[in-house]
Amino acid sequence: MKKKNIIIETFEYSSADELSAKEKNLIQASKNAVKNAYAPYSEFQVAAAVLLENGEIVTGTNQENAAYPSGLCAERVAVFYANSKFPDVPVKAIAISAFTKGSFVKAPIPPCGSCRQVLLETESRFKQAIKIYLIGEAGITVINDAKKLLPLHFNSISLEAN
Ligand code: THU
Repeated sequence: MKKKNIIIETFEYSSADELSAKEKNLIQASKNAVKNAYAPYSEFQVAAAVLLENGEIVTGTNQENAAYPSGLCAERVAVFYANSKFPDVPVKAIAISAFTKGSFVKAPIPPCGSCRQVLLETESRFKQAIKIYLIGEAGITVINDAKKLLPLHFNSISLEAN
């Protein structure tokens, strides 16, 4: 038996002022988009802004449904939309904001497991890391690639027969 420790590296910023103008712009795009969420059931509005290699910013929001599992998270809406519109353009970064009970969340919200899996697939599709910005009013967490969020992941290599 061997014990293995997995270390996840994150970068914590106290506010967007510590980031570059381009990063601030992406963060602002995600904040501006929360109003487009369709979240009548949870009243938890999430928006993701995806920055593409060509400089385009594509936003997506959570889309809920009376049949709850039919809804989709903001991150997947944004990434799928970006990849549908620009199938050959790599995704460079994603900023995620959430708004509930009249204000933006204090602590940043991390993407759910399914969204992590989709971000991972997008990284391997374009062979490029995706920088992830989790936006909270009390601080911003930056993760340098989706693999860090999903250690021991399942990917296309797992599908290859042994
Ligand atoms: N949600 C997202 O859009 N992204 C996340 O990272 C976590 C959760 C949505 C799903 C649902 O519409 C609402 O937030 C409450 O879970």
